[in-house]
Amino acid sequence: MADDDALLTTDIAVVGAGGAGLYAALTAATAGASVALVSATPLAQTASYWAQGGIAAALAIEDSPERHLADTEAAGRDAVRRSAGDVLVSEAAARVADLERLGVRFDSDRQGVLALGLEGGHSVRRVVHAGGSATGRRIVRQLSALAVDREAITVIEGARATSAWTHDGRCVGILLEDGRAIRARATILATGGAAALWSRTTNPPGSLGIGMSLAHAAGAQLADLEFLQFHPTAVIGVRGREGFLVSEAIRGEGATLHGPDGQRFVEELAPRDKVARTIFQLLAETGATSVGLDMTDVDPARFPNVVAALADAGLDPTRERIPVSPASHYMMGGIVTDLDGRSTLPGLYAVGETACTGLHGANRLASNSLSECFVFGARAAKAGLDEPETLGGGSQPPAPPPLAHPSRATQEALWRDAGILRTREGLERLLEDPHPLARLIAACALKRQESRGAHQRAEFPEVDPGLDHRHAIVGDGMEPRLELWH
Ligand code: SIN
Repeated sequence: MADDDALLTTDIAVVGAGGAGLYAALTAATAGASVALVSATPLAQTASYWAQGGIAAALAIEDSPERHLADTEAAGRDAVRRSAGDVLVSEAAARVADLERLGVRFDSDRQGVLALGLEGGHSVRRVVHAGGSATGRRIVRQLSALAVDREAITVIEGARATSAWTHDGRCVGILLEDGRAIRARATILATGGAAALWSRTTNPPGSLGIGMSLAHAAGAQLADLEFLQFHPTAVIGVRGREGFLVSEAIRGEGATLHGPDGQRFVEELAPRDKVARTIFQLLAETGATSVGLDMTDVDPARFPNVVAALADAGLDPTRERIPVSPASHYMMGGIVTDLDGRSTLPGLYAVGETACTGLHGANRLASNSLSECFVFGARAAKAGLDEPETLGGGSQPPAPPPLAHPSRATQEALWRDAGILRTREGLERLLEDPHPLARLIAACALKRQESRGAHQRAEFPEVDPGLDHRHAIVGDGMEPRLELWH
């Protein structure tokens, strides 16, 4: 890697040091590439680090990639891109094995057989965890330690990407807010999702769709921005723990949901969109602000970090019900990519939550997101190495344009106008928001005149079968078009 103060030249630039970014960086380095790994936030603030779910992979004897695909498609509500689903279910098990080889210790029984968890929408136990609900933390810690030790990887911490560096219609690197630049054959965005654009969220504060914003500003297409998943069980009304996620895996082990009258009211392990919507409707009908999650029959030792976090807030889940309600959790949409992470802008790649392969359709199957990080992170790293070595852009990178940051008012507007139930009036109001990504989300949500998965429109309460497998694409300008993906 050539190096001076302001400009680094490397084979692969990876932006984001969560699961997808770390794994892509390690894969590229193993293939002999030089890598610059840019991390804006400390490790503990990446969405992967916060991930309580695990890695979904067809590992059980009674399971198969076909069955995993069928569950993914059923959860995704006739909007999953089959080719992306196929890749995920065929390669997830190999990525789990690879992570074990890299030193990640997954939960297993005394014989060393992986303990598989159950989550909403899965027809069989399929979710690999590490440390119960501390999976993301364990993986990110291990991969970070490996990345720091690799000579081929230069870690640039505390640096914020602000713009793709483009030249002659391709991306030739990334510009950082502090004026530094990285020139690379391939730039891989692994910057996480956008759920913290909504005021009530389970996500770390940095999940603001930075990668999506800068990719769109550079001319790459985005898709499916109307599909934002709301997690059913985030803590509400508890100081210091607002939005704290109580993992679906806990419902997988028998925790139940109770309405204000104390009765159960929903099938707890239905796909996430259905559970979130049912809670939302019950709260609207009753005027209550929360439902109760009863996990008194669940072994607290299985989920030590959740139990400890609740205890810190003065809640004892072994004795009392936890007040929960839905919160913004996961962006199914993002930067349009092919099955190797290539965006529509040559040289620019995206993986993990910032990308949109169409894999999740209108409602992601629980724990498919970490699987996606590793499956597509590896593919993008390998594909990036095939990019041409000769790069343009000159020796002087351009000054980066500032990236818009959302105000609290934008976050509240998204929660109000692009929440679980959307109206034309609210979405049209959101079209006027000062934040560009908020406007694009509104435009996609207005374009989809139906209710499907995580996207529910008051004026169009039914699924429109004519929109099956159609994805809202935004390129230049604001007006999305609906494209058929297989
Ligand atoms: C959870 O543990 O409930 C969340 C996991 C996921 O988002 O897949």
